[in-house]
Amino acid sequence: MMISLKFLLCCLLVSSCAYATIVSHDGRAITIDGHRRVLLSGSIHYPRSTTEMWPDLIKKGKEGGLDAIETYVFWNAHEPTRRQYDFSGNLDLIRFLKTIQDEGMYGVLRIGPYVCAEWNYGGFPVWLHNMPGMEFRTTNTAFMNEMQNFTTMIVEMVKKEKLFASQGGPIILAQIENEYGNVIGSYGEAGKAYIKWCANMANSLDVGVPWIMCQQDDAPQPMLNTCNGYYCDNFTPNNPNTPKMWTENWTGWYKNWGGKDPHRTTEDVAFAVARFFQRGGTFQNYYMYHGGTNFDRTAGGPYITTTYDYDAPLDEFGNLNQPKYGHLKQLHDVLHAMEKTLTYGNISTVDFGNLVTATVYKTEEGSSCFIGNVNETSDAKINFQGTFYDVPAWSVSILPDCKTETYNTAKINTQTSVMVKKANEAENEPSTLKWSWRPENIDNVLLKGKGESTMRQLFDQKVVSNDESDYLWYMTTVNIKEQDPVWGKNMSLRINSTAHVLHAFVNGQHIGNYRAENGKFHYVFEQDAKFNPGANVITLLSITVGLPNYGAFFENVPAGITGPVFIIGRNGDETIVKDLSTHKWSYKTGLSGFENQLFSSESPSTWSAPLGSEPVVVDLLGLGKGTAWINGNNIGRYWPAFLADIDGCSAEYHVPRSFLNSDGDNTLVLFEEIGGNPSLVNFQTIGVGNVCANVYEKNVLELSCNGKPISSIKFASFGNPGGNCGSFEKGTCEASNDAAAILTQECVGKEKCSIDVSEKKFGAADCGGLAKRLAVEAIC
Ligand code: GAL
Repeated sequence: MMISLKFLLCCLLVSSCAYATIVSHDGRAITIDGHRRVLLSGSIHYPRSTTEMWPDLIKKGKEGGLDAIETYVFWNAHEPTRRQYDFSGNLDLIRFLKTIQDEGMYGVLRIGPYVCAEWNYGGFPVWLHNMPGMEFRTTNTAFMNEMQNFTTMIVEMVKKEKLFASQGGPIILAQIENEYGNVIGSYGEAGKAYIKWCANMANSLDVGVPWIMCQQDDAPQPMLNTCNGYYCDNFTPNNPNTPKMWTENWTGWYKNWGGKDPHRTTEDVAFAVARFFQRGGTFQNYYMYHGGTNFDRTAGGPYITTTYDYDAPLDEFGNLNQPKYGHLKQLHDVLHAMEKTLTYGNISTVDFGNLVTATVYKTEEGSSCFIGNVNETSDAKINFQGTFYDVPAWSVSILPDCKTETYNTAKINTQTSVMVKKANEAENEPSTLKWSWRPENIDNVLLKGKGESTMRQLFDQKVVSNDESDYLWYMTTVNIKEQDPVWGKNMSLRINSTAHVLHAFVNGQHIGNYRAENGKFHYVFEQDAKFNPGANVITLLSITVGLPNYGAFFENVPAGITGPVFIIGRNGDETIVKDLSTHKWSYKTGLSGFENQLFSSESPSTWSAPLGSEPVVVDLLGLGKGTAWINGNNIGRYWPAFLADIDGCSAEYHVPRSFLNSDGDNTLVLFEEIGGNPSLVNFQTIGVGNVCANVYEKNVLELSCNGKPISSIKFASFGNPGGNCGSFEKGTCEASNDAAAILTQECVGKEKCSIDVSEKKFGAADCGGLAKRLAVEAIC
């Protein structure tokens, strides 16, 4: 009594009463203040959206039934130059964590500081690579010092703001390293020692919440090793005292330039989650819950796209990705309702054969059950405790009271939203933009071959340019005398290159360019060229499109023109090779337009932002490859010239609303690298066009147009309707009441409506004993 009174008193003295939360674990579950928890979490990376978007994204996470938001910390973004830090704008980690706290959610802080994440260089600053004697992710003193310096600084910053749960803040878990177990074999004994060092170093930081190490099955105590993957139900932590935790449930996947839009079905994500909790899971995190955008040069690589949509429950722009968002929300609600039985119950299983099992969680107060059918093709009908249940192939049914099925992962009772793009409807906005242009000033490099530094060697691009730009010029002047054996032959330039994209010039003439095929970044480029007797200027432009972010020793994967470079002379069978590799090479990082900050200039003919509040995209179809800025804000690399055939014609890039001026003075600046036609460039908004649902009876259907009113009901039928969204048709049985009329009455004109899918509502339908469904298509 005395103690709590004292605590209360000192709490009253400080302006905000923050009570420390004890986060621990007991083999079965993560416990918060002594209670075992079912924890659902989702990854949202703060730099992949804007500060203005954070509250809404996090709120949607909470409404989607999440307990926690998880993020990595991005070292190279925060320490772009050694010991010079940046936490401004969307790098304001503390503000992001406080936004999580304001929403009453927990946070999971994955410091890394190696993060992978399809982030440039996996989050490592390139200056780190360029330090003498440096070796990453092993027992290298220089590396360990820098890693410890950054990690300590982040922990101190977070502690200062009292953001760890142990201090009354939201953060319940912290992570050190990232999936080192996947590559540890390549580091030998040093790798094992490094992981021990990571554990000790993290522990010494005394954060007061558990530390996790994902994919680390030799995680030293008290580190908790966790699982990453599409399915983690088979995962068992190395230590019997570690609860079963899943840090990355991949909701989709990332996209590569030239690749398809990734898709993972809603049913499969839900199946994986339900299965994980059927088999004793305690913490599950979606990677990603909101993927967002790789603005500027943050995309990893090579060839990770600007969009990091990930087919996540919240799309790139923050819209609900339905039915994924809603189907998972319902699952979260069911799991949370069973928290007690799941975390305290005695577990028993019943095997029905053919990969069907029921799991019973039993406490003195009650029981909860799962029936899992892991057979990929055959549906099951089983008798469980006297009742028949239909369990579709590859699905899990959840029976919170072990009697009534309230959820099945394969039965979606949530609307599907079809997103549509609309033209910019701002008043007096001409349909085409007015352009002015300036060429990149490259005479000096092309004709004089003059850079900033010279070396008698071909260097890795990272070493020369510190990754300050995608662009690095390699230039040399070759004197070819007429008596040179190569002279007079059919001459060509041969370049052994690891440049992701290469442009070659001889004496100011563009002789060709090359785009490396994904995965084949070591290639030989050879092109005929005209040389003069006397001095010849060879100018090569190497372009990186995101530095690698994954794999053992990925930091040493070469970038740029590593050589050798030859002039080749051919005459019949005779081939003369002139090696230029040890010539004097002159280097210049970057392009003058970037240096002169052309991107922040204002256009003489500005345009108006699209009206309303829906997300904005700019369609860059017709352009080649480059970078785009809106009012000086870098929205990332664009590359419509490298579209997957399958994608059709989409080349939209996210323009966060906060980058736009509502007063009508907006400038779009493009740096175009290979040439293109900007006449089709236009701005659009993205919103819900129509919504569809196909819901089983005894469920409640929620229809919503995301804040817009529902304008009409195009189709509705209760019975056994067929077809899909956009092509629904009535089936062979239909209820007596006019379903379309009922829905029109209850939904049209409203932003959302809730419909009880039952015979009571729609009247009787004789469908021969089969479960009835309501199919609806509504126009927003
Ligand atoms: C994991 C990694 C994540 C991310 C993911 C793929 O291996 O930990 O950071 O890269 O793969 O999206």
